[in-house]
Amino acid sequence: MDLKLTNKNVLITGGSNGIGYALAEAFLGEGANVLIAARNKERLDSAASNLRAQFPQGKLSAKECDVTRVAELETLAQFADSELGGVDVLINHAGGGTDETVMNAPDDKWYYNWDLHVMSAVRLSRMLHSGMAKRAALHGEAVIINTTSKCAVQPLWYEPIYNVTKAALAMFSKCLSDEFAKDKVRVLAIAPSMVLTPDWMKTSAKKSAEQGISQQEFLDNLAKNSAAIGRFATPEEVANLYLFAASPRASYLLGTSVHIHGGAIKSVN
Ligand SMILES: NC(=O)c1ccc[n+]([C@@H]2O[C@H](COP(=O)([O-])OP(=O)(O)OC[C@H]3O[C@@H](n4cnc5c(N)ncnc54)[C@H](OP(=O)(O)O)[C@@H]3O)[C@@H](O)[C@H]2O)c1
Repeated sequence: MDLKLTNKNVLITGGSNGIGYALAEAFLGEGANVLIAARNKERLDSAASNLRAQFPQGKLSAKECDVTRVAELETLAQFADSELGGVDVLINHAGGGTDETVMNAPDDKWYYNWDLHVMSAVRLSRMLHSGMAKRAALHGEAVIINTTSKCAVQPLWYEPIYNVTKAALAMFSKCLSDEFAKDKVRVLAIAPSMVLTPDWMKTSAKKSAEQGISQQEFLDNLAKNSAAIGRFATPEEVANLYLFAASPRASYLLGTSVHIHGGAIKSVN
């Protein structure tokens, strides 16, 4: 199926690693122009040079940005205009898991993750709205995908701040889809479950040590006990869903959270 993503301008926050990197690969593979953003310059540069080597004909840009900082988001939005000429697909993807109890987490940690998972999407959507609406009027539609998580509906025991902020992002996506639909800017959330990325390697190193088991045992136990499929997803399996969701082929898909969880969610809602 031709997903009709050739020459679409795609901005991916958190595109230097894990699922975000797989998204950049997947969109470049479809002939889209891709801008990735993240904080760590070394990793961003290395991701960009690997992607350029893999897709020599593709258009790949990279910009340092901490999405929790308003001024850096403004610079990123301006860069997207000057470098790409505007955005057709915005993927608010930067984020990561947490580890705390409600009783031991200070307010600052709540506020940081609120900025990371919620306000970054609120702010970037607001900043890019008029440009995206103009491109939608010309080309048929623009798309915003917010990366939430299985944890937005089924929490993991050790990360209440992550669970709460991802649930808020899911509701924000719903509200935004109502507000932006009239401008042909289609908004939805995609909620991955357990995807084997460097973030999980970090979490499993810590949690396996706490439990006195090997890292691999921790990962295997979690996958077997959580998901009917009995394994983690690969970033590439998840990226395929984003491609379809961002494609004009999915023009009726908005105002929803699409979960990709290998049977890990224990309800039919
Ligand atoms: N892996 C999973 O199982 C899973 C499941 C559900 C949802 N998700 C969601 O998918 C997204 C990516 O997860 P992942 O596992 O692929 O994580 P990852 O490998 O740790 O990658 C996270 C990406 O986000 C960037 N990032 C983090 N904080 C940032 C900030 N303040 N400003 C800008 N960029 C920032 C990182 O780059 P820098 O550190 O250089 O900034 C990196 O590019 C997250 O939103 C996560 O919650 C993942």
